[in-house]
Amino acid sequence: MEPSPIIAPSILAADFARLAEEVRAVEGSADWVHVDVMDNHFVPNLTIGLPVVASLRQATAIPFDVHLMITDPDRWAPGYAEAGAYNVTFHAEACEDPVRLAKRLRAAGSKAGLAIDRDTAVEPYLELLPYLDTLLIMTIKAGFGGQKFLPEMLDKVRDVRRRITAKSLQVRLEVDGGIGADTIAQAAEAGADAFVAGTAVYGAEDPAEAIRKLRAMATRAAVTA
Ligand code: DX5
Ligand code: ZN
Repeated sequence: MEPSPIIAPSILAADFARLAEEVRAVEGSADWVHVDVMDNHFVPNLTIGLPVVASLRQATAIPFDVHLMITDPDRWAPGYAEAGAYNVTFHAEACEDPVRLAKRLRAAGSKAGLAIDRDTAVEPYLELLPYLDTLLIMTIKAGFGGQKFLPEMLDKVRDVRRRITAKSLQVRLEVDGGIGADTIAQAAEAGADAFVAGTAVYGAEDPAEAIRKLRAMATRAAVTA
């Protein structure tokens, strides 16, 4: 049986003055909470860093999916694992030796993820899949929430899914950017099984209900794919 889809609401679209409450609002419905760390270097935007993640970690039991949009992840990423992140994803474009960093993350107690931005081809990274727990395909250009989903990114998702299936790998295939009720089915059909959603969850009247609807759509699409 296929593993059930992961829905990971992104707190980038939440109210930063009430982060603990916003995270608790999705307890019981979210599988992971997606935490977008941006450093104003790798991407132009600036969000939150390790002290906030460490504090927020104490506020909920939901696993944290930390997405590091930062330069020099070798220096910073293991700290997020030590702070209790479930999964730490760093960008291929920012890392010289992804396998080495993935091993360090696992040794520090988290799962290891590699992210591929909009303008980066995925082929060179397919051979690294056995060393990873998650592979994140950006379906926008990393840096800002609320952007429009780019369906042409789904070719990358299909390529990765083919490789995961061919090699029987235990890797979560995550998509991030513009995921919502109008796009999640196509991403699931292409082979994604973990879905980040910021605006579609925290922009909704009832975030928990939005998550349940997204999960139902993803599950249905994966069955018919
Ligand atoms: C953007 C972030 C995304 C963002 C997604 O670079 O990586 O996680 O929060 O937001 P939406 O779902 O609004 O596109
Ligand atoms: Zn993200």
